[in-house]
Amino acid sequence: MRFGLLIPALTLFSGSYAHVISERQDSGEVEQYAPIPPASVVPLGPNGYYVENFGRGVYMVTDGGYQAMFVVSDKGVIVVDNPPTLGRNLLYAIGNVTKAPVTHFVYSHSHADHIGAANLFDDKVKRIAHRDTAELLADVEDPNRAQPKITFRDDYHLRVGNQTLELSYKGENHLRGNIFIYHPMQKVLMLVDVIFPGWTPFAQLGQVKNVPGYIRAHDQILEYDLKHFVGGHLSRSGTRQDVEIQKEYVTDLFNNCADTIRLSATNDTTVGAAAVLGPVLAQNPGNQWAAFRSYLEVTAEFCANKTNEKWLTRLAAADVFQESNAETMIESLRIDYGILGPFATM
Ligand SMILES: *[C@@H]1O[C@H](CO)[C@@H](O)[C@H](O)[C@H]1NC(C)=O
Ligand SMILES: *[C@@H]1O[C@H](CO)[C@@H](O)[C@H](O)[C@H]1NC(C)=O
Ligand SMILES: *[C@@H]1O[C@H](CO)[C@@H](O)[C@H](O)[C@H]1NC(C)=O
Ligand SMILES: *[C@@H]1O[C@H](CO)[C@@H](O)[C@H](O)[C@H]1NC(C)=O
Ligand SMILES: [Zn+2]
Repeated sequence: MRFGLLIPALTLFSGSYAHVISERQDSGEVEQYAPIPPASVVPLGPNGYYVENFGRGVYMVTDGGYQAMFVVSDKGVIVVDNPPTLGRNLLYAIGNVTKAPVTHFVYSHSHADHIGAANLFDDKVKRIAHRDTAELLADVEDPNRAQPKITFRDDYHLRVGNQTLELSYKGENHLRGNIFIYHPMQKVLMLVDVIFPGWTPFAQLGQVKNVPGYIRAHDQILEYDLKHFVGGHLSRSGTRQDVEIQKEYVTDLFNNCADTIRLSATNDTTVGAAAVLGPVLAQNPGNQWAAFRSYLEVTAEFCANKTNEKWLTRLAAADVFQESNAETMIESLRIDYGILGPFATM
């Protein structure tokens, strides 16, 4: 079950990956995690994807791991993202709904795992993105992610025939250039790699670049009049309640990790700095990195343990990435928020 996310992608390349998985299984190294609550996944159907209809021409497509959105107007189709794992299946999903051509392609953000199949649309398609996304793409020149022709700074009102999308930039969160994409009539909001409906965030809080901006994004989402939420992952779409739940989760992680840092400034026998750093430095004289690595690992594990007490039964896969998320939170609490515990000014 825990390979659920990877299976659609892996079957495409079964030759090379299948034997890696079976070798790991044979050697008995495969981790066993808590089972996934059934409500956190939707059945994909025979073609490996699932299409959710939000009404009035607004659709979400998922392959179980990644999501994209498309909006059918009377003058052509607007597509938001095309993750390579979806790729041609997104074109088939659209083709089964309408004969209209794709005329506009919106990049939610620059990351290849969400827009890396942008090259499946021809050059006539109008590509739209935040200007920071254009800048990040110019740095890498990936032929699969063509430069957007239309860029904007704060807001962009995209009107195509009878459909309207409101694109807004509210500052850096997951990374800079990550935009809010809103369909006002159906109250559908898309923001990628921030909220993971029903699931614990991916490793390092979804590979976050700016933790304070990421935390703030939860409130920015809740300012919208919102019925459906598309987060870019994983399976089903979300609701306002999913956003509220993840806000509660992130607040708990923040508080638990801050408490852990404070405890590490005491003589606590598990996370106290002297107890953690002392033995490593004795074993590795002068090796500050070695000592600090242990500090980060132990405090992250302690914060993850505390957070799992509540969240293991509330969000899928809490036991998979909780330590990674806690380590990211601890490092941000230290260097962004200045909660330094034993490393504060004496
Ligand atoms: C716009 O037109 C398309 C194609 O005719 C239709 O499917 C869709 O429901 C319409 N949406 C709105 C918001 O009028
Ligand atoms: C409809 O979906 C099926 C299954 O994905 C696909 O094989 C077919 O090509 C699609 N039709 C169109 C017109 O895209
Ligand atoms: C830990 O610190 C507290 C307060 O400074 C002190 O009362 C206690 O004796 C210490 N415990 C140990 C095991 O050193
Ligand atoms: C976290 O929990 C595990 C499992 O109960 C335990 O083995 C480990 O010692 C705990 N880690 C810390 C740092 O408290
Ligand atoms: Zn991303």
